[in-house]
Amino acid sequence: MFIADNIAELHRVLTVWHNQGDSIALVPTMGNLHAGHIRLVHEARKCAKRVVVSIFVNPLQFNDPTDFARYPRTFAEDQVKLASAKADLLFTPGAEEIYPPGDVTRVHVPGLSEILCGAFRPGHFIGVTTVVNKLFNMVQPDVALFGLKDFQQFTIIHRMLLDLHMPVELVGIETVRETDGLAMSSRNSLLSSDERQRAPAMYRALCAARDAVLKGEVEIAALEQRGMQALEQTGFKPEYFTLRRAADLQADDGSAHELVILAAAWLGNTRLIDNVVVSRSVD
Ligand code: PAJ
Repeated sequence: MFIADNIAELHRVLTVWHNQGDSIALVPTMGNLHAGHIRLVHEARKCAKRVVVSIFVNPLQFNDPTDFARYPRTFAEDQVKLASAKADLLFTPGAEEIYPPGDVTRVHVPGLSEILCGAFRPGHFIGVTTVVNKLFNMVQPDVALFGLKDFQQFTIIHRMLLDLHMPVELVGIETVRETDGLAMSSRNSLLSSDERQRAPAMYRALCAARDAVLKGEVEIAALEQRGMQALEQTGFKPEYFTLRRAADLQADDGSAHELVILAAAWLGNTRLIDNVVVSRSVD
């Protein structure tokens, strides 16, 4: 596995592959890799000849400096995991290369970026779309893989690709979970053992809401309220628990086939998010 810690080195390796006509898949990450990230790398192998993984803890998407400071950084372990997952190139740029002095241009997908997580993390998605754009321009991948665990992130990136006519195929990968249902996340390592035991309640509440929809529940406000209460009862401080249309994350008027139930909540000092997709038959 090649390791490039700057853009010139990245281009040196990529030029050879581009000249050979090798297709390229990109998996952008912020490191502290777990089995969810590694699933993306394995899926990427099926999509292209060469797999590039980036690790960059992107300061622009952290609205809270404490969250940025305590974000787990485990580069040595990540490198070993990526080598055994057969990534071809690990790109680990420094912040001064991604955001050189004078850098001001930002990519914004309005509307979608201000709802749900965006309402609680102002500027977060501008940070995500800006850095993903930069990474796409640097790597010029044929395909890019993202996890559906970050459902809103995926939806926003999809919108950005369409709107900017970016020639990148987007692939979404199902959420990888611990055996007790908790969605794998780099932030899980920040949970105390008591919080870790409580954490799967979020997925249970989402599944209960999904089952209610499948049984024909139409009282969406009541369903969302039950979800919020279930989270509070387990010690979460919920931000939202809501059912939306999967296509555009807007409120459903009863006609959408594909729905998604999304939740975000704090356990102590750690913010967790998760979602489940529901396919409903509509008459
Ligand atoms: P990060 O949280 O490191 O996640 C990197 C990728 O792994 C994202 O596409 C995310 O959705 C996916 N992922 C995380 N947990 C997963 C799980 N349990 N199952 C499947 N996929 C999972 O998301 C980011 O980084 C950043 O916002 C980034 C896109 C890299 C931009 O900075």
